[in-house]
Amino acid sequence: MAVERTFSIIKPDATARNLTGAINAMIEQGGLRIVAQKRLCISLPQARKFYAVHKERPFFNDLVDFMVSGPVVVQVLEGDNAIAKYRELMGATDPAKAAPGTIRKAHAKSIQENSVHGSDAPETAVKEIAQFFSDNEIVG
Ligand code: CMP
Repeated sequence: MAVERTFSIIKPDATARNLTGAINAMIEQGGLRIVAQKRLCISLPQARKFYAVHKERPFFNDLVDFMVSGPVVVQVLEGDNAIAKYRELMGATDPAKAAPGTIRKAHAKSIQENSVHGSDAPETAVKEIAQFFSDNEIVG
């Protein structure tokens, strides 16, 4: 199985409830390594760029407003099959549909305030990681 990297965001609803450590524990127990991490406030242009793929969706403005509403923790996660593994660990976008044992089942509040983001494909992961980290900040 290939060792991959994926990009993760612990979102403002989770940082507001002091859940960074609890989510990181689930990530590590799920078999992924946190090889880069920083806590920051995303700017409006950064959020609009990050979620540009959703710009025509009715929830776009609300989503961007939410992502700039408080601090986030951006991360690079590494492991075998990391992209699919993290998506499984996060659970469904809608926490009401998320499986037991997933991060969103345990912690998410709603479809929007769903605690975590993870890349959906290898090309997306490369782009998303590059938006927040330089190579020398990622230490595997
Ligand atoms: P994320 O994995 O970060 O990718 C896009 C985000 O858009 C998603 O998590 C949700 O936070 C948000 N989102 C997706 N669908 C909806 C929706 N129907 N209503 C509001 N927000 C949504």
